Amino acid sequence: MKPVLAITRRLPADIEARAHASYDVRRNEGDKPLKRDEILALAQDADAILVSVGDPIDGAFFKALPQRVKIIATFSVGTDHIDLAAAAQKGVIIGNTPGVLTDATADITWLLMLGAARRAGEGEAEIRTASWRGWRPTHMIGTHVSGKKLGIIGMGRIGQAVAKRARGFDMEVHYFNRKRLPADQENGAIYHDSIDAMLPHCQFLSLHCPSTAQTRGMVNAAFLQKLPKGAILVNTARGDVVDDADVIAALKSGELAAAGLDVFAGEPNIAPAYRDLPNTFLLPHLGSATAETRTAMGTRALDNIDACMAGAEVPFRVTV
Ligand code: DGY
Repeated sequence: MKPVLAITRRLPADIEARAHASYDVRRNEGDKPLKRDEILALAQDADAILVSVGDPIDGAFFKALPQRVKIIATFSVGTDHIDLAAAAQKGVIIGNTPGVLTDATADITWLLMLGAARRAGEGEAEIRTASWRGWRPTHMIGTHVSGKKLGIIGMGRIGQAVAKRARGFDMEVHYFNRKRLPADQENGAIYHDSIDAMLPHCQFLSLHCPSTAQTRGMVNAAFLQKLPKGAILVNTARGDVVDDADVIAALKSGELAAAGLDVFAGEPNIAPAYRDLPNTFLLPHLGSATAETRTAMGTRALDNIDACMAGAEVPFRVTV
């Protein structure tokens, strides 16, 4: 008999085919986000669960989870939707998909940075609404990216890939990370031992830190005041790292010239003001959305489950 695998969202076809070959699959056919109770119902006879970004795998979930479930593999590198301490207490293994989102997310960071700086959203809207009045010297003026100073918070794989691209734009890269990188990995990036020390240098600021008790709401009014006036904020990390009301106020006052955002607190229900502001360039959490990356994420997620079911070491195991 095949082990039972509950899958909370539809996955790339090749990944679903692989899952069906090895498991008796319980699938969320409608692909709508499931509530806690609906995931529990889907997983009532499961040995493993494959979850995704935004699924509420919290303390109450683990309390109600049948003991039979051995592993929860998330189709994501981020694990902020999972209560890792509750998982450990229940003895459930957690796996994630690190390493395969790096280039896709770094690329989209650049799309956001360039889009925000060069007013790409406004420009595209003008063409789509047939309101373009033709080339003129004062039309839709943005700001240079090349040669500017970029600050990066979180110099893990993605932060480093963003820094690598910044070198191609002759940017001066500053970074804050919990640990300084070894000299041979810094590639000229300037380390700051506190975020406060780095912020005054950041004409652009890109967030690449996880959502944790320390980072939630970190980008608030006091934080934003330390940036140079007219800085540009880019977020491909997690929406709740920023305080929406404070970022919106800074975008309205011009303290921030623009923001490029791929992630939002409470997504898909984003703070409506973001939509109304002309100086935001917005994407619907597409950081990892390439065919190559999504297949690689699914492969990692299933590798984690296969290893657990075989009693082997889970290759991408997350611990508290
Ligand atoms: C992740 O894997 O955590 C990403 O946010 C998905 O794009």
